[in-house]
Amino acid sequence: MHAPFAKQNEEIADATQHCATQPCVTAQDVARAARFSVAPMMDWTDRHCRAFHRVLSRRALLYTEMVTTGAVIHGPRERLLGFSQAEQPVAVQLGGSDPGELARAARICADYGYGAVNLNVGCPSDRVQDGRFGACLMREPALVGDCVAAMKAAVSLPVTVKCRIGVDDQDPGEALDALTLACRQAGVDEIVVHARKAWLQGLSPKENRDVPPLDYARVFALKADNPDLPVSINGGIRAIDTARALLAPHDGVTLDGVMLGRAAYQDPELLLRVDTEIFGEAAPPVADAFAAIEAFEPYIAHQLEEGVRLASITRHMLGLFAGKPGARLFRRHLSTHAVAPDAGLDTLREAVDHVRMAMAVAMARRVEEDVA
Ligand SMILES: Cc1cc2nc3c(=O)[nH]c(=O)nc-3n(C[C@H](O)[C@H](O)[C@H](O)COP(=O)(O)O)c2cc1C
Repeated sequence: MHAPFAKQNEEIADATQHCATQPCVTAQDVARAARFSVAPMMDWTDRHCRAFHRVLSRRALLYTEMVTTGAVIHGPRERLLGFSQAEQPVAVQLGGSDPGELARAARICADYGYGAVNLNVGCPSDRVQDGRFGACLMREPALVGDCVAAMKAAVSLPVTVKCRIGVDDQDPGEALDALTLACRQAGVDEIVVHARKAWLQGLSPKENRDVPPLDYARVFALKADNPDLPVSINGGIRAIDTARALLAPHDGVTLDGVMLGRAAYQDPELLLRVDTEIFGEAAPPVADAFAAIEAFEPYIAHQLEEGVRLASITRHMLGLFAGKPGARLFRRHLSTHAVAPDAGLDTLREAVDHVRMAMAVAMARRVEEDVA
């Protein structure tokens, strides 16, 4: 289940050759999966989170957290980039603005077997702005074009961009068009648009995820002007029904993908509907959250053997059973006990038992009420 193919220190790898000997996904696999993706989220979408999400949807495209070019090139690579083939298809998101470094980082990521490389043009944090990357690159479309071109020349993987519709006082029409044009000319394979501006001064990254308002129409207009460019929409999508509605044609314009961030993480059970309702599969990979936990147990057991703490994995599962009887007890049990150094699968099973018990009690009450 580990990244057995990681050639840690070899920077120059021919991704095509690599795929001949390693179980990589194809560009087509990635393009298909991009119809529904789980957004890159720092501190959230680590490898354990992705392994868990993969139990819930076989078809969705999963993203890493953003990793900077400096970290990829000089940092502890296996810790930052190591992942399991079971998570595929996975796109790695890079933060940076130096074309040469992005090319070098993209090659390293290709060597690790990622399915696509995505450039972050949407993060508004101060630290990212100091490094002159993330959302502030919305002001430098030519540089973004150079970055995409350098990455395209370096790897044979799809190279994609995740951006905003603009920053600060930019006209969202002009800003997004200019960025898209530069990316297209560089051969970008997909644009993912977080459909709101970012305010670079005075708002925290967290506030920048809820204000300013969303402008989905702007993303449809972009697709209308670029019918042959894959365009995905992100921001504020909280339900599969909304995702389906956004994938339906609007005035003859059809988007290529939807990306969900917080909703997928905070209510992971919604991913159980993705394979059937977004991809047309006959059945979900597992029947429900209980079955998902059972299916995930071998992964957890393997990670525990490798010395990973239970809480590092179960912290991504706290949103399970959201709104159902026993959900609070489930969360509390894991938050209290999974951090213990010797916590194991029994701790998780005890947490699940709380839910089973609470559901049985709730059911019994309903029956009593019906009878009365
Ligand atoms: C905890 C957290 C971390 C995030 N980290 C990243 C990141 O590393 N890269 C990125 O492009 N966006 C990041 N985002 C933004 C999301 O990818 C997404 O664009 C945003 O949350 C809006 O989508 P949503 O409304 O579906 O959550 C992050 C969001 C959250 C909540």
